[in-house]
Amino acid sequence: MTYDLAVVGLGYIGLPLAQQAGAVGMSAVGYDISAQVVADLMAGRSHVDDVSDADVAAMRAAGFRATTDPSVLGRSSTIVICVPTGLTPDGDPDLGSLREAVRTVASQLRTGTLVVVESTSHPGTTEEMVRPLLEEGSGLVVGEDFHLAYSPERIDPGNRSYTLHNTPRVVSGCTPLCAKHAVAFYSRLVETVVVARGTREAEMAKLLENTYRYINIALVDEVALFCDKMGIDIWDVLHCASTKPFGFTAFSPGAGIGGHCIPVDPRYLAVKAETEGFSFRMLSAARDVLGRMPRHVVQRAADLLAGEGKPMRGARVLLLGVAYKPDIADTRESPAFAVARQLRDRGALVSYHDPYVPEFVCDGLPLPRCEELADGLAEADLVLLLQDHSCYEPARLARAGCPVLDTRGRTAGATVTLL
Ligand SMILES: NC(=O)c1ccc[n+]([C@@H]2O[C@H](COP(=O)([O-])OP(=O)(O)OC[C@H]3O[C@@H](n4cnc5c(N)ncnc54)[C@H](O)[C@@H]3O)[C@@H](O)[C@H]2O)c1
Repeated sequence: MTYDLAVVGLGYIGLPLAQQAGAVGMSAVGYDISAQVVADLMAGRSHVDDVSDADVAAMRAAGFRATTDPSVLGRSSTIVICVPTGLTPDGDPDLGSLREAVRTVASQLRTGTLVVVESTSHPGTTEEMVRPLLEEGSGLVVGEDFHLAYSPERIDPGNRSYTLHNTPRVVSGCTPLCAKHAVAFYSRLVETVVVARGTREAEMAKLLENTYRYINIALVDEVALFCDKMGIDIWDVLHCASTKPFGFTAFSPGAGIGGHCIPVDPRYLAVKAETEGFSFRMLSAARDVLGRMPRHVVQRAADLLAGEGKPMRGARVLLLGVAYKPDIADTRESPAFAVARQLRDRGALVSYHDPYVPEFVCDGLPLPRCEELADGLAEADLVLLLQDHSCYEPARLARAGCPVLDTRGRTAGATVTLL
């Protein structure tokens, strides 16, 4: 059996890619080192928010299969690498999975194959790390025997308007011919392909996009801290500033940033800059501000409890929404971890409600889960809205029998305080 596409890494990026390939009539196979991920997909179970079990069943019916056997890579005309590029426990870029995946691809590589990296990384990764590993591991040469490209994924989990298909796709190649092959491949999958000058420009474009969000969120967080000190309503400030029809894009303050991208990608940029002897001052300032937000939220919570004559120690604090963004189940790098940790450190009895997250373990200790929102709202001493999942209707929160600290600025009422 031969395949049009082999996806390496079947997570938030890889699985929707395999799905889209099937939808346009490509034969697709998925290779993953996780036996659990493969078994789940083969049994029709999805572990990715944007792909339902029914979607996986449809993919399976159309011929998709997942496997831990890397030999499928040698039978695929295009191989796209979608493995994680996270951080080490010390907060440094961790390219271990990407290196391992590239070595696996190299061991199976055949003449004529197009290899694409979609994983986010610092500029130079494709040319300086991926290319030599592929060439040395396979004995083949880029641009002559096989094609190598970089195309950053822009998927926004939970976004129903912009999908893989209608989000413009940046594509680059190590040689003009590599780029041409990559453009031909992505043109079948997406509406708009944008060709970057080279792989470093495409890698940097991805980091710029996410660093832009990182720095602007930090900016509005710092404005919120200043407004708090001055007694100014940050939400009204944002409402007013947002009416400017040009030159201003609103970002919201909150307990912090989360997910696999926004807190992670700027670190890749910062560390690469350091190795080049370049000091990226915006990044360190933003990191500092973002790191202060969980503490600020916890202090605001303590102040609200004090206003009720209650100490933080022993107070029942209910966290609403522990995922890192609305209406998804992903808790990776969620600011809820830092908030829960600091509340616990101050002696609070912390529980959580999140319809999407069945278990939330912070520092090895699971937080008690509130199953019924109504019960949680009735029993808590303080409710802390961290994530505005659509189930958290403002009117319902406004009727809670205790103070509500809303870090998303969407609720109003006598018992509600906005961050
Ligand atoms: N999640 C997002 O919203 C998003 C958006 C844009 C870009 N990205 C980038 O896409 C990349 C993938 O992220 P993700 O969120 O899909 O990750 P993920 O953790 O959801 O999935 C990655 C998958 O790769 C598998 N894997 C790990 N090492 C492997 C190996 N050596 N060989 C084969 N499979 C391997 C894992 O088992 C896992 O199933 C990252 O670089 C990320 O920064 C993510």
